[in-house]
Amino acid sequence: MTQNKASKKAIRARTRTTGESYTRARRLLANLEATKHPRNIAVFGASYVGLVTGACFAELGHRVVVRDIQPEKIRRLQDGDVPIHEPGLAELLARNTERLTFTVDAHEAVDDAEIGYVCVDTPPTASGDADLSRVWAVVETLKTATHLTAVVVKSTVPVGTGARIRSALDGAGLADVGYAANPEFTAEGSAVSDFLHPDRIVIGAWDRATADLVAELHQGIDGPTVVMDVASAEMVKLASNALLMTKISFINEIANVCQVTGADITHVAKAVGLNHRLGPHFLKAGLGYGGSCFPKDSLALKQLASNSGYHFQLLNAVIEVNELQKRRAVQRLKAELGGLTNTRIALLGLTFKPGTDDMREASSTVLAARLLAEGAQVRCWDPLARLDSTEPWASTSRHGSPLDALAGTDAAIVVTEWPQLQDIPWDRASQTMRRAVILDGRNALSPDKLRAAGFRYLGIGQGDA
Ligand code: UDX
Repeated sequence: MTQNKASKKAIRARTRTTGESYTRARRLLANLEATKHPRNIAVFGASYVGLVTGACFAELGHRVVVRDIQPEKIRRLQDGDVPIHEPGLAELLARNTERLTFTVDAHEAVDDAEIGYVCVDTPPTASGDADLSRVWAVVETLKTATHLTAVVVKSTVPVGTGARIRSALDGAGLADVGYAANPEFTAEGSAVSDFLHPDRIVIGAWDRATADLVAELHQGIDGPTVVMDVASAEMVKLASNALLMTKISFINEIANVCQVTGADITHVAKAVGLNHRLGPHFLKAGLGYGGSCFPKDSLALKQLASNSGYHFQLLNAVIEVNELQKRRAVQRLKAELGGLTNTRIALLGLTFKPGTDDMREASSTVLAARLLAEGAQVRCWDPLARLDSTEPWASTSRHGSPLDALAGTDAAIVVTEWPQLQDIPWDRASQTMRRAVILDGRNALSPDKLRAAGFRYLGIGQGDA
């Protein structure tokens, strides 16, 4: 009886975190109980990828040590505080405290580790190649582990990285330690749910035993596993992201043509997406993509190709369209207002997408810098953005509500489609503005509603009428 009650509680807790139905959560937890083989996993990197990976593996029953080199981040995690915003993550961390520890100490991390998961970031170097120094630092640490069965790389790395790590392990007398590439495909804002319900789990390995081991770590997860060679697994991640970015830049170009021909991108994208061979996803026109993955990974793939003697024309165009999209928006506003000098512009939403506090490669940063360079004053609002005090943010003012940010401005740009924007009393807002002009950079608002509230409404690819 007590057992039944306890498991019901666990099922309910899981439904709350993952959004699964009660029946599905009960089935997955039962599968997990039947097959569970807990392992000791050391996860390196406590950012968006590492924390979600560690928390989800602990949820699956494994014992996890998460190691990061930033003492402040680890101290907060040890105190039960979550340093990033990711829905469901705080609950997972709280629920699995007995299986999760956090440390800055590399030796403590590898002491009992059977599997070393590399989840550190790979930012671009000056040449645009991926900077693998953090990955290599983790590999050096893992060489000192005495119980290690496998090194698994989740960080996004150029094709060929696994082969180089394999040689390094062999050279250190660790030929019996397996190697696998296990790229991550989680999106911020839904990373926990994406991890537990993946479209696919991709595993690249040279030997069956390592592939099976990594597959076994994922038992209890609802999704197909695809096993292949290491180089192909590395390429799956780069190719998937490149195709998603291509869809975004493609629809943005179609939107730009709609703009000058009088067609409406919202109708066009909806109808195009209803073709089952194309699908409705990633066809939202706007100010372009940002975030921790797309801009960096597109550059890394471009450089990987050109380092190998291949000029990736299509990808170059995708990157260029994305760059120009933000500048086009500023130009459009400049034409609309007859110049930007001494204007006041509100940026509504700053993060690279809603549902996250992440500002990496956010379109807002380019917009703010361009507007300031044109002589405008910039006022902003965002419910979660973590802004640093560097330029351009040092020269902007941040406000606690969209209405406050809009007051006294000549125009506003919707940069991030936060749901809160739907609740703004737009007729009141238009009264407080110097000129009621809105450039809806995400086509998030109703043009009719905004026009009825007294706005001059400019959407992306919707014509200006
Ligand atoms: C992405 C990939 O989706 C994920 O698989 C990978 O692991 C990491 O990179 P993420 O960066 O979290 O995830 O964001 P995503 O939801 O993919 O959006 C990326 C950017 O594209 C955002 O700036 C978003 O606003 C923009 N976007 C997305 C569009 O402009 N139009 C769209 O239709 C979709």
